[in-house]
Order: sequence, then C-alpha cells, then structure tokens
Amino acid sequence: MKRIPVILDGDPGHDDAIAWMVAAASHILDIKAVTTVAGNKDIENVTRNTLNVCSLFNIEAPIGKGAHGPLVVEGITAGDFHGETGLDGVDLPPSDMTLSEYSAVELMVKVLEDSHEPVVIIGTGAQTNLATLLLYRQDLKDKIRAFYIMGGGIENGNWTPAAEFNILVDPEAARIVFESGIPVIMSGLDVTEKALVYPEDVNRIREIGTPMGHIVSSWLDFFGETHAAMGYKGWPLHDPCAVLSLIKPDMFEIREAYLQVETKGLHARGGILADFEDKENFNGKVVLNIDREAFIEELIKAVEHFTGREA
Ligand code: RIB
Ligand code: CA
Repeated sequence: MKRIPVILDGDPGHDDAIAWMVAAASHILDIKAVTTVAGNKDIENVTRNTLNVCSLFNIEAPIGKGAHGPLVVEGITAGDFHGETGLDGVDLPPSDMTLSEYSAVELMVKVLEDSHEPVVIIGTGAQTNLATLLLYRQDLKDKIRAFYIMGGGIENGNWTPAAEFNILVDPEAARIVFESGIPVIMSGLDVTEKALVYPEDVNRIREIGTPMGHIVSSWLDFFGETHAAMGYKGWPLHDPCAVLSLIKPDMFEIREAYLQVETKGLHARGGILADFEDKENFNGKVVLNIDREAFIEELIKAVEHFTGREA
C-alpha cells in the first residue's frame, strides 16, 4: 500500500505523544519530519519531550526545533497541566536522537522540496510553524496536500468560552493556515471532547503488560488525575483525533465547512466559526463525532504494535 508522507508538528504534551505513537504504529503513514512548537510548555521542554518520544516510538525522522512563541502576541503555555516536564507520569529511557541542524520551518521546507508528492502536515499544537512556512515559502503550497489539525471548536472553547488552546496561543497563525487555500481538516473540541478515555480503558492498556503499556498507561493516569481534579469523569484525548481522522476517517463524522478564525474581539478571540451552507467558500472539514470504542481499540492496537520493544 502506498504510504502517505506526513510531517508531525506539535507540543508534547501527553496527547501529542500518544498521537505520535498512533502515527508511528500506522502502516500507511511515512513520517518525514517531526517539528516542535511552544504551547503546552516552553519550546525547550516540548523539544526535549519530542526527542524522548521519537526515540521511544522509533520515529526515525529528523526533528526540527520550532517557534518559541506566537507570530504577534505574547505566548501562553498550559502551565503544569501536563506536569512540570510537560510529559509527567513516568520516566522515559534517555533519547538516542539528536536535533536536526535545520529549524522546524527549514526542515518543513526541505521535506516539501524533496518530496515527489504533496505532504500532509498534522498539527497538534499552535500553528505558528505552519503559518511561518506559508509566509516564507508560498511557492511550496502545492506540495502541502492538507493540514490535519487538532484545534478549535465550533460549539465551545476550553481556554476561554470561545477559544480552544491551540488556536488561542496563536490566532493570527491559525488564520493564515485556514485562509491558505490548503484544505484544513479540523479535529476540534466538538470531536475531541467525545474522544474520552476512562479508567477501565487505561487498565486495558496497563494489562497489555509490556514496557510500552506501562508508559502509556502511566501517561494516561497522570493526564486523568489532572482532568479528574477538574471534575471530568473521562478525559478527552485530543491530539490522536488529528492522526486518526487521516488514517481511519470512517471512525468519524466529518462535514465540509467554511471555517474562519476570529483574531479580534475582546471575548471571542481565538474562536472558530463554521458555515456549513456557504459552499463556494468551503475551505476544509470539521470532524464532529467519533466512534469512541473504535478509538480506544486503535490506541490499544498502537501500544501492542510496540510489544517486545524494550522501552
Ligand atoms: O486544547 C487541547 C490542545 O492543546 C491539545 O493539542 C493539547 O496537547 C494542547 O496542545
Ligand atoms: Ca498538543
């Protein structure tokens, strides 16, 4: 089967790490590069986490350090939502990978220039690197097949009532991406807040009994504690939806839409507006629903894919 060339861009973060595990376990993705962006934590932390995660999942692709902050405004982070390191819950084996000599955007440019076919960019953090790529090399737009992103929400936000975190970190960047003319497939809170993991799901992963089962269940235990403290019964595993909407679209309800990013507004900055009627302006798709049981099975299959690997 012909594999899809992809670039993974994110801010690990527990859910980014699990999204990248799913991508690494997939037989249909060819990971060409992994790039980092500040968000869950500062750029140093997310980049160190990326080196550790790529080593853990044997993602043999160059890793480019990216934007330390948004295009225009002062950066925000998610504080200790993902713990002090940004990936708390378990100590990982030391990484055997090193950073590319190229920065995130330089690496993206190199991958697009070298690719014989358009590349999918899977973004699970702020879209600063994606926007910078578009600003810096408009000529490479036809080498980007689509942006599969975790971000936004047409019904609600999670950092403000209107805005989801990834979009709110850099609304100007998101607007550049959404207005680029390249299809955006948006896994926003509308679907990710239904991609819920419950304690019994975590126990199934732990009971796989491998080092990887221990690591992923420990991550989910930590991620769960944070959410349980906020009153969640199940915890939304956002970022894997961006990967799975590409490799397993039948697991989802996905609708074409005209998506706009609000960059102004005292209260609504970072919000996403979706128009399902204005067909002439359709610029992407919104992922709206998920088969949660199938989602959990995909997570378990991905963990089992690494069985036998000394983590
Ligand atoms: O709002 C959830 C998103 O923000 C996820 O991508 C999480 O990792 C953080 O980046
Ligand atoms: Ca993320």
